[in-house]
Amino acid sequence: MAQNYSPIGIFDSGYGGLTIMREIVRKLPQYDYLYLGDNARAPYGNRSFELVYRFTLEAVTYLFNQGCELVILACNTASAKALRTIQQRNLPLLGPSKRVLGVIRPTVETIGSITKSGNIGVLGTAGTVASESYTLEAGKLYPNYKVFEQACPMWVPLVENREYDSDGADYFINKYITQLLAQSSDIDTVILACTHYPLLMDKIRRRMPDNVTLLEQGSIVANSLNDYLIRHPEIKQRISVSGNRQYLTTENPEKFNEMASIFMGDFIDAEHIEL
Ligand code: DGL
Repeated sequence: MAQNYSPIGIFDSGYGGLTIMREIVRKLPQYDYLYLGDNARAPYGNRSFELVYRFTLEAVTYLFNQGCELVILACNTASAKALRTIQQRNLPLLGPSKRVLGVIRPTVETIGSITKSGNIGVLGTAGTVASESYTLEAGKLYPNYKVFEQACPMWVPLVENREYDSDGADYFINKYITQLLAQSSDIDTVILACTHYPLLMDKIRRRMPDNVTLLEQGSIVANSLNDYLIRHPEIKQRISVSGNRQYLTTENPEKFNEMASIFMGDFIDAEHIEL
C-alpha cells in the first residue's frame, strides 16, 4: 500500500459490522476502509467483560498498526464492554492522537426525535443488555425516558449460520419480541442494538406492532461519523482518500467472502490474519 495509506478501521466480532460499513461507505465513499471481523472467536455476545475487552483491544491495536488513525467499533457488544476502557486506559499509550468510536452513543442520540411515549425498547446480545449501556446512555440524555432491554441470545447464531431466513428463525424472533413487549405496552421505539440484526429485519418488522419505529444503526452511525469528521478536521485530514476497501478475517477467507458478500451486497475478497 502507498505510504500515506490511513484507512478508517471498522471492527466487529464477525459479519455484523458490515451492515454499518455498507452505510458508511454509501455516505462517505471517498475514504479508504479496512474491515476486520474476528470471526474465529465470534460470537462475543455471551463472553465475559474481560474477554471482550481483550479481544477488542487486540483488534484495535492491529488496525492501528495497519495505519488506521480512526477505528469504529461497529459492534454493540464491544462498544458496551470495551470502548470506554480502551479510550481511557489504552489510547494514551497506543497513540494519543488516534481515535476509537462506538455505536451506542450515536444511536441513543437519535431517539429523542423519534419517540412520543418515551418508552424505548432495546434488543441486543446478552452482553450488551447485561452492561445496561443503553439504559445508562439514555439516562444521561433523556432522564425521563424509560428503557426496556431484552437479550436475544439466539439471533446472532441464526445470522452467523445463515438461518436468518428460515422458518426456525421465526420461533426465536417471536420469543424475544414477546418478552420485550411484555415489559411495557407503551414502547413506541425499538433499537436493533446489534449490528447483525438488520439481516433479520423482515421477520422482526412482521412481528412488531405497526406503531413501533424500528431503529437500524447503519445510517445512524454513518451520519454521526460524517458529523464527527466535520467537527474534527484534524482527524479527517489524516484519513486517506483513494476509495479503497479491504477486508480482514481471523477465520477462513473463502467462508468470510461468501457471507460478507450477502451483508455488503458487493463482491468481497478478504485476507486471513491472526490476532
Ligand atoms: N454484532 C455484534 C453486536 O453488535 C454482536 C455479535 C456477537 O455476539 O458477536 O453486538
